[in-house]
Amino acid sequence: ANWKMNLLAADARAWPAKLEAPAGVELLVCPPLALLPVLRDALGPAGRVALGAQNVHPAAKGAFTGEHSCAMLLDAGARYVLVGHSERRAMFGDTDAFVADKLRAALNAGLRPVLCVGERLAERESGATFRVLRGQLTAALAGLGLPSPEPATLVVAYEPVWAIGTGRNATAEQAQEALAFVRERLAELLGWTWARAARILYGGSATPANAAELAAQPDVDGFLVGGASLDPAAFSAIAAATARAKEQR
Ligand code: PGA
Repeated sequence: ANWKMNLLAADARAWPAKLEAPAGVELLVCPPLALLPVLRDALGPAGRVALGAQNVHPAAKGAFTGEHSCAMLLDAGARYVLVGHSERRAMFGDTDAFVADKLRAALNAGLRPVLCVGERLAERESGATFRVLRGQLTAALAGLGLPSPEPATLVVAYEPVWAIGTGRNATAEQAQEALAFVRERLAELLGWTWARAARILYGGSATPANAAELAAQPDVDGFLVGGASLDPAAFSAIAAATARAKEQR
């Protein structure tokens, strides 16, 4: 769940009560940082829900007004962090190199990065999708010293920019094709142990209505859910559809 810049403390306190966490899937919520401690308290100690942040600064500390370090995120209860989300790339100047710095800093600190990649509409229409994905993955992962011994720490979200927040999700075929490509590039860059263990997610207008068909694809390990995650019932329905699809696979 990527709440982006939505909801307030009262919403975060109410959210877990309406969440139904099915067995067989891992749940992660990335609220705005100010709401992370509120949500952590509301989820309670026995929760099956992991917490994450939506952004991080790679430096350990210093004069970076408005930013948060890996240690601060861990301190606040985050175990995951989104890096390279298209909104940060498009609106906040996150370059491939800066995304790579964030990813490396997160892994080194013991935070699990969720690396977001995806092509814009013009790139898809001009046949550049795979070139864009290859470029983003190579920039973020090539030369990564694999500081973490646990390959399952890596999560990659394929989020076509044209599908984010538009109500126009990728088809199951488009998602499968892109996610299989991502997994092959992970194998090329990091080896098949990492590529197999990594969770590869689809993101972009995922809803309870389209989750089952998308989750049935062999390379779709799960979802990064924006808009639909603000409603815990809708988020739970996506989780349930994913659990059912995984069971049948
Ligand atoms: P969306 O956002 O589900 O609202 O399309 C997904 C994302 O940006 O992570």
